[in-house]
Amino acid sequence: MPKVAILGASGKLGDRLVARALEEGYSVNALARDPRRLSRQNEKLTIMRGDAETGEGLEALIDHCQYVICAIGSLRPVLEACMGHLLPKLEANKRFQRFVLISRIGTGESRPQALKVSGLLQQQLPVILTPVFRDINLAEARVRSSPLPYTILRSTRLTDEPPAGSVITVGPKEPPPHRITRADLAHYVIELLGTQDHLRAELTVGSG
Ligand SMILES: NC(=O)c1ccc[n+]([C@@H]2O[C@H](COP(=O)([O-])OP(=O)(O)OC[C@H]3O[C@@H](n4cnc5c(N)ncnc54)[C@H](OP(=O)(O)O)[C@@H]3O)[C@@H](O)[C@H]2O)c1
Repeated sequence: MPKVAILGASGKLGDRLVARALEEGYSVNALARDPRRLSRQNEKLTIMRGDAETGEGLEALIDHCQYVICAIGSLRPVLEACMGHLLPKLEANKRFQRFVLISRIGTGESRPQALKVSGLLQQQLPVILTPVFRDINLAEARVRSSPLPYTILRSTRLTDEPPAGSVITVGPKEPPPHRITRADLAHYVIELLGTQDHLRAELTVGSG
């Protein structure tokens, strides 16, 4: 079974991605700044210490991995630096098949779309969190200009509610989907890995 590397594995979405990948039979390399924050244990799970901002641990993380998912979220601008370290390593990795960047609605072409999501606060996030969104935009631009097979998924607001089984992807000019549970998003992302769908694509993802 193929191997998937997950950055941001100690986060709320990251944990669900790890769980779902293991359920689907993947071997998983999980990156954490503090491995103690990952309590999950599984013979197919390897927890690796590293820091995406400095690039520490990334070489080992992606070794022998066909798939790489980045679910890093930070109020500090770290993603562009992370892409600067990660993408050349992926280009050099002969086994590599797909990179999935978990992004946010309001970046790239989805900026106007974010003004149509429900909730004034959610609509204003790209302005309130200007440095964060600038960092994600720069990270996306690095991914886009790489020759890699990638998918950028710009998510609507994430929730910890139980899975609803509802995931839809839309283009940036369509009405935005509703908020989505982390469980549903994780399910969708892991299912996407083994397909040829949405390669070199940028999509808004949410629920119907
Ligand atoms: N929350 C939302 O409503 C929302 C909406 C749309 C999109 N998203 C996107 O969805 C993704 C996951 O969101 P979430 O709310 O589930 O995330 P989260 O729980 O806040 O987790 C963020 C993860 O990023 C890791 N991280 C931060 N800086 C790092 C660094 N320098 N090196 C390595 N890891 C680092 C954190 O590790 P530590 O444990 O070491 O801190 C943690 O594992 C993010 O990409 C976010 O932008 C979120």
